[in-house]
Amino acid sequence: MQILFTDTSPAQTRVRATIVNQGDTPEGLDPVLIEGAEASRFKGNAGQVFEGFASVDGATKRIALVGAGEKGADDRRLKLERAGGAAVAKYLRSGEGELVLDLGKAGLSAEDAGAVLLGAKLRSWAHDEYRTKLSADKKISLKTVHVVGAPEGTESDWERNAAIARGVEFTKKLVTEPANIVYPESFVALCQEAFAGTGAELVVLGEAEMTELGMGALLGVGQGSRRESQLLAIRWNGGKEGDKPSVFVGKGVTFDTGGISIKPAPGMEDMKWDMGGAGAVAGGMLAVVSRKAKANVIGVMGLVENMPDGNAIRPGDVLTTMSGQTVEVLNTDAEGRLVLCDALHWAQETFDPAQVVDFATLTGAMIVALGNEHGGLFANDDALADKLLAAGKTTDDKLWRMPIGPAYDKLINSPIADMKNIGGRWAGSITAAQFLHRFIKKGTPWAHCDIAGMVWSDKPGATHEKGATGYGARLIDQFVADYAE
Ligand code: BES
Ligand code: MN
Ligand code: ZN
Repeated sequence: MQILFTDTSPAQTRVRATIVNQGDTPEGLDPVLIEGAEASRFKGNAGQVFEGFASVDGATKRIALVGAGEKGADDRRLKLERAGGAAVAKYLRSGEGELVLDLGKAGLSAEDAGAVLLGAKLRSWAHDEYRTKLSADKKISLKTVHVVGAPEGTESDWERNAAIARGVEFTKKLVTEPANIVYPESFVALCQEAFAGTGAELVVLGEAEMTELGMGALLGVGQGSRRESQLLAIRWNGGKEGDKPSVFVGKGVTFDTGGISIKPAPGMEDMKWDMGGAGAVAGGMLAVVSRKAKANVIGVMGLVENMPDGNAIRPGDVLTTMSGQTVEVLNTDAEGRLVLCDALHWAQETFDPAQVVDFATLTGAMIVALGNEHGGLFANDDALADKLLAAGKTTDDKLWRMPIGPAYDKLINSPIADMKNIGGRWAGSITAAQFLHRFIKKGTPWAHCDIAGMVWSDKPGATHEKGATGYGARLIDQFVADYAE
């Protein structure tokens, strides 16, 4: 869906949507429409849509009022995104190909207008490529949004938002594609394509290089798979030379069967999105790189497939990680931490980061604790945690702080190795975080985001269809914008 700016609304376009604040009566509209909106209890609440019909110059037009909520609301930006998203959701598969979006009646700033357009753009993304029999009336029809009444500066502001949308869409695509399409090597290939010509530098390690480096944990997870494991780094040097980079690390398990500790069949298909952490990092990097952020930022993704096989790791196996620490694998389904521990160690050794933040669909226990409303945030540094919480509030990629500490740490001691890869029955998300913490060097600010409940949604939201939410890409971009530039 393209967004075009224009001074006068194209006459042939049949749909006109106007953004309206809560309680406002927009001027210049047919009084019958206004009455209709009132009768329908349209209040201008964020995301509320009223549609009526009016005859304009002899042609019947569909006129929509789209609520943006209260003008002074604290979360005004998110409400405006929701309004843009609601306008698009209404007409995306309506049969209409074009929409005039009037931003001139709600007293918006350029930044406000940008939020509406970002919401509109994000809500328009869908993945219908494999639905070859989709009936005509369910296909996406909306191709163009003509923006009228945009305040001064909206168009230049839009460039930044378009970069963010590009990143979020990339995350959604990576998360949506099934595991026969997105596997470690094809994940890398998709990144090579997306970042071509952007000035970002991609570093790819295959199994031979990782063996050389001693990444026994990451390689252990991948050894039951026919697909070759990969470690991918995307480097963006937009900041001052010598400035320590912000490093983001993602869990990229392109499919998680559980391995020999195999998962039950019902719902296993969900584990195609067990690469959502890596997807967030790839999309976050694409946003940062596309808007040429003035910061040094690196994304590292550990890409593996976790399969049961004659060559797979077994419960009880002891693996030696790149850090030299050893791990007793008591459950091959607790594989994400095995991938991340080597990726985190390598990232610290290679890039000497200012701080490291990892993203992972790490534990089902995280969904038990926080549901689908917040990702869990674990950190060894309060300042870093606060920055991430703030970036999450701004972008609606919400996080909630969880505890870590020595009492939890001792729950993963092993009688045969330095640690085991699972704790007991309780506090499963925290013991997973403690495992990762053992691979963070003293003095390195680190945060871990367990986003198991956030990357996929069984219902549509303000900025996504049912399915991939794009979670994490905007969080990364916002963190970089607010704290690294
Ligand atoms: N990828 C899963 C976690 C997960 C579960 C994400 C459901 C999204 C939805 C992870 O690899 C896993 O299997 N974790 C186990 C850990 C357990 C064996 C200690 C879990 O959560 O059950
Ligand atoms: Mn697992
Ligand atoms: Zn997993």
